[in-house]
Amino acid sequence: MKIQRTWCLPTVVLATAFISACSDSSSSSSGVSELDTNLSALIASENLTGDPTTNRDLPNITDLKAQLGMKLFYTKNLGGDQDSACVTCHHPVLGGGDNLSLPVGVNAASVDLLGLGRVHNGDGAPNVPRNAPTVFNLGLWDQVMFHDSRVESIGKESGVNGANSGIRTPDSAFGVADAGVAVGQTLAAAQARFPVTSNEEMRGNVFEAGNDNDTVRTALATRLQGDADWLTEFQTGFSSTADAATLITYDNIAEAIGEYERSMVFTNTPWSAYVAGNTAALTETQKLGAVLFFTAREDSGAGCSGCHSGDFFTDESHHVVAFPLIGNGKGNVNASAGNDDFGRERETGDVADRYKFRTPTLLNISATAPYGHTGSYQTLEDVVRHYTNPRGQVTDYFDVDGGWCQLTQFTTVTGCAALYPDARTNSLLAVDKLDADRLAGESEEFASDLTLSDEQVNQLVAFLEALTDPCVESRTCLAPWIPDTADAGPDGLQLNAVNADGSFL
Ligand code: HEC
Ligand code: HEC
Repeated sequence: MKIQRTWCLPTVVLATAFISACSDSSSSSSGVSELDTNLSALIASENLTGDPTTNRDLPNITDLKAQLGMKLFYTKNLGGDQDSACVTCHHPVLGGGDNLSLPVGVNAASVDLLGLGRVHNGDGAPNVPRNAPTVFNLGLWDQVMFHDSRVESIGKESGVNGANSGIRTPDSAFGVADAGVAVGQTLAAAQARFPVTSNEEMRGNVFEAGNDNDTVRTALATRLQGDADWLTEFQTGFSSTADAATLITYDNIAEAIGEYERSMVFTNTPWSAYVAGNTAALTETQKLGAVLFFTAREDSGAGCSGCHSGDFFTDESHHVVAFPLIGNGKGNVNASAGNDDFGRERETGDVADRYKFRTPTLLNISATAPYGHTGSYQTLEDVVRHYTNPRGQVTDYFDVDGGWCQLTQFTTVTGCAALYPDARTNSLLAVDKLDADRLAGESEEFASDLTLSDEQVNQLVAFLEALTDPCVESRTCLAPWIPDTADAGPDGLQLNAVNADGSFL
């Protein structure tokens, strides 16, 4: 298929038909316009079904193990100092993340306050180096977890969430399955072994100081074993009568948390309804955005699906796109030195992977701002404009728009401007890498800057907004994934989240 640009909108030349997409006036009596016909050809050529859950075995939130996992996800008892839980950075009402550019984990000024207004004791600045991704639709990942894919399926089989062939984690060498993760465990369960070992996220600086990850996990499991109410919960969750020492292990904690996360399936989007045949599910602007999104660069499209591919909108692979880097930086190399973030290179050790990050899914994207691995872009429009001119956008970001201080999270931080003196330099190093890769012919999907009119930017943003399941924007619809705020949980340490106004989330 070849697509030519006219002054207004893409015009698609099919093998036998010449169709203008400039207006919807050509709608047939069936409600299918020529624009719909063009889009359905793209949908067919991308092999999309609209339903990324097809042929997957995903748990229901009413399953006993998912129910146990929910209680574990919300307990501060898994935090070393009992002041941080998984939900601290991954609340359903906050899009499965925290609505912050960079998270605040342990030692917050107000422990149960989540989202905007959550600050550290002391200077108020966040100290976790990367943005918290959503935990929605976690069961749809087959290959990798984290921005740098440091949790990675060995065999990458499709449809099984990593359960078939072992999983590499930070506890094992690159490419080698972690012996501590049994084959059959999912990527979600493997990932859940790590936040409790991170000083900034959950562990704090005192708990099991100097001890290895497994010692930390065992200490937490032992802590829960001492509580009769947790034993009852584990016996129910695992349908077992075994004793605490047998049932309350960190392996089982991680498995239950993983099942809770995997039950958060939110894929009923306007886009999926459209692909299923409801042509009224999208506006004309959204359809035009979809055409741009799925049309290849060489056919004058925006080529977004070159990386955000398939029904889950990700190739689960790594690319340099050079969004601005802000914050303390995850580090140059494996030793976490410096305030840059080398991304995938930190795992592979290959300089070719410097500044590569995993392609995120775009499902529920309206609910998961801010964007990028450090949350440096506040809006979808900012993200789309980045692809039109990374160097110009990144330079303006720091020199014109106020850098990180323009972000909602930072508006109340005193001394904001002095926080990250190397952020601009580091961000431009990533743009340099993008340019070098392009020259070397190694940036196939993002080989050059995009040319987009303001109207086309709006169309792409409108399309992205059609990728959100309305359920994630409704507290009532999300209620099954949030424990009753009138309860305190099995150990009295359930985190009943409040917003900056003090209302329950
Ligand atoms: C202080 C905030 C914080 C807390 C607490 C926290 N996380 Fe996260 N989470 C993050 C950040 C930041 C990342 C991304 C880190 C990276 O990629 O390097 C992340 C990544 C993840 C991912 C990967 C998602 C993906 O798309 O790859 C999952 C799953 C997850 N966390 C689950 C959990 C669970 C389970 C817990 C509790 C055991 C937890 N998190 C506690 C901040 C947090
Ligand atoms: C070369 C591969 C590639 C192409 C082409 C591409 N993206 Fe991305 N996209 C990425 C990567 C990688 C990230 C993550 C960047 C980061 O974490 O800093 C990303 C991030 C995003 C995000 C933010 C997601 C989040 O959760 O933070 C959005 C929105 C997005 N892209 C939309 C688009 C649109 C729209 C297009 C087409 C104009 C596009 N992308 C083209 C690879 C690509």
